[in-house]
Amino acid sequence: MYLNPEEEKMYNGEYGETMRKSMEILVALGDIYEAECLVNISSAQISGVSYKTIGDAGLEYLEDLAADKTAKAKVPSTLNPAGTDLDNWKELGFPIDFVKKQNRIVDAYGNLGISKTCTCTPYLVGNVPRFKDHVAFSESSAVAYTNSVIGARTNREGGPGALAAAICGKTPMYAYHLEENRVATDVIELEDEISKTEYGALGYIVGGEVGDGVPYFILKNKKENKPRNSDLKSLVTGLKPTVNDLKSLGAALASSGAVALYHIEGETPEYKIADYESVAKDKIYISKADIKNVFEKLSNSSKNTADLVCLGCPHASLEEIEKIANLVKSKKIANDLWVCTSINIKAAADRMNYTKIIENAGGHIVCDTCMVVAPIEDLGYETIGVDSAKAANYVPSMCGLEVIYDDAKNLIKFK
Ligand code: F3S
Repeated sequence: MYLNPEEEKMYNGEYGETMRKSMEILVALGDIYEAECLVNISSAQISGVSYKTIGDAGLEYLEDLAADKTAKAKVPSTLNPAGTDLDNWKELGFPIDFVKKQNRIVDAYGNLGISKTCTCTPYLVGNVPRFKDHVAFSESSAVAYTNSVIGARTNREGGPGALAAAICGKTPMYAYHLEENRVATDVIELEDEISKTEYGALGYIVGGEVGDGVPYFILKNKKENKPRNSDLKSLVTGLKPTVNDLKSLGAALASSGAVALYHIEGETPEYKIADYESVAKDKIYISKADIKNVFEKLSNSSKNTADLVCLGCPHASLEEIEKIANLVKSKKIANDLWVCTSINIKAAADRMNYTKIIENAGGHIVCDTCMVVAPIEDLGYETIGVDSAKAANYVPSMCGLEVIYDDAKNLIKFK
């Protein structure tokens, strides 16, 4: 891989050991994937934060890097969710030994100049690239959103690769950074309209079908006879997928498959260049019945009621928190309830009084973490209720617990 003179200096250790190690990682990645050069990035988002997932080996690796006080991220960078709510861990019952190690991990990242904003929805809290920006993101749902909805360019980076990219301000130029890899590989046509809550289930089906392909979605709209590729269609009918729908869709696509980029006809910024005609002859058709089956397939609990209802996968937006607040207002919840989000969105929810409404009903807004990367298996729960296909897919394997996958309004029980 070609390195310019400045990159050669970074690679040869002229800017310190951490920069040298980081360049070594980027060059190794570039060589593996046959990148011709590095490209400058505008921001990074780094996974490998929860002590549950990286353990002592990861903690030591990060503290070693952070010991070099000269190494700081060159571009704005944020973290993926950690294993605890960094502030309210005691109230939620997290074990102190776990919390201490978790804090050391987050502090090590902080010393490397990475913002301690721990969220999988960086695009809701300021780490939002512009169209065609090159970035290095590692949370798979954020990768799908960033490539597809924003039209920025990122590969699905591993934690060390994203951290190295943050420190160097560069990433190897291959895969989704190149225009030719952004065309559609599969066409998915919906036979029925889907509701707002069904985008995750749709993503789960399609991820399983296309693997690491680039799906091109043609959404169904029976009420409207305009050509499907009319940009005005969804505005006229009010059926335009929202940010919340699209983050659920991308998260599920990247969990049952390894989708990093999708297009939706008339909706996402690059659908016109998706060039799907060559693959359109083998369309995959998906019906309402297929989607309904996903809810049954992913629910592996014999119980009807979850001990803990855990919403916010990917991390909840302010609008999603508002909906939950409206659902539980002036009632008492029978299950435990966590609504996972970032510290930034919670600050807005506090101001809007949504936090108080949810807490008065018996629930919590939980920051910095989620049902998959927190050690919920050690907190006394057996059955978790989720409204996210990604969470339903991962909770049994990552936490060893039973899961019920349904709408929030069905999962939350009242006294
Ligand atoms: Fe985010 Fe955790 Fe879901 S990292 S996408 S809330 S599994």
